[in-house]
Amino acid sequence: MNILITRPIPDAGIKALRAKGYKLDIYEKDAVMPRKLLLKRIKGVDALLSLLNDKIDGKLFDAAGLRLKVVANLAVGFDNVDLPAAKARNIVVTNTPAPEVSETVAEHTIALMFALAHRICEADRFARADKYRGWGPNMLLGTDIVGKTVGIIGTGRIGEGVVRRLFDGFGVKIVYSDIKRNPEVEKREFAKYLSIEQLLKTADFVSLHVPLLPSTRHLINAKRLKLMKKTAFLINTSRGPIVDEAALITALKKRRIAGAGIDVYEHEPEIPKALRKLENVVLTPHTASATIEARQAMSKLAADNIIAVLSEKNALTPAK
Ligand code: GLV
Repeated sequence: MNILITRPIPDAGIKALRAKGYKLDIYEKDAVMPRKLLLKRIKGVDALLSLLNDKIDGKLFDAAGLRLKVVANLAVGFDNVDLPAAKARNIVVTNTPAPEVSETVAEHTIALMFALAHRICEADRFARADKYRGWGPNMLLGTDIVGKTVGIIGTGRIGEGVVRRLFDGFGVKIVYSDIKRNPEVEKREFAKYLSIEQLLKTADFVSLHVPLLPSTRHLINAKRLKLMKKTAFLINTSRGPIVDEAALITALKKRRIAGAGIDVYEHEPEIPKALRKLENVVLTPHTASATIEARQAMSKLAADNIIAVLSEKNALTPAK
């Protein structure tokens, strides 16, 4: 069996595939595989292990030829894959929602939330710029998290992980919004289900955990940003296009909201200059799942999906 892997990945999955005796073709550079090369090297493979910044579409499937049975996308999201085109050709598509990844992204969300509330990055820049001239009672005042209301939009594995951490550890109230009610979240005494509009009006922190679908593109737009409290923060560790980035920049500049913690951008890898210039944002470069533990788990799960399909078993985590 021939497997194409579009970039060097943590070794757990590589070892699992090698142990099966598969022939691996791994793109040698730690960079996105150029499309032209991908179209060439995919020819005749049985499985493709792709990344979230590879475009996986009908043209690529046609270039692969009839042997291609499975595309294992090393990501929780599927938005880079043309699922109908895969289905039409009977190609199984899988993702990597390993438990480790949900835990890691939930941790990163909490890290952004605390960095914003306590102005950690601003304080760091201030200290580095040698601006500290002695303690003052009004210097770099942030806000507490305790007693606040956190709004979670999307309560899948990641959103639930955020709820668990906040509720058990930090004494906040939770409001959430989702396409359906989540009994796991509602088990908690202070967890309340609200419409997105009500949630935006209520929450002091709004955290996004939905997949990117036609129905969630610009879920947070100018109109909805206006509903948020002036003192509220927005956190996005899901996908960039869930938020209308231009509208967010305007809201942040005009201080219609207090700040934002952002890991994902509308046109990656571009991080707009206007965003980078703002003091009231904490920006991370799509690193919410970037821990050794999470990436090894993703690597292993992608490999296990390939092994399952090539052994004529059901994929472990197929696209729905
Ligand atoms: C990262 O964004 C992922 O989908 O795993």
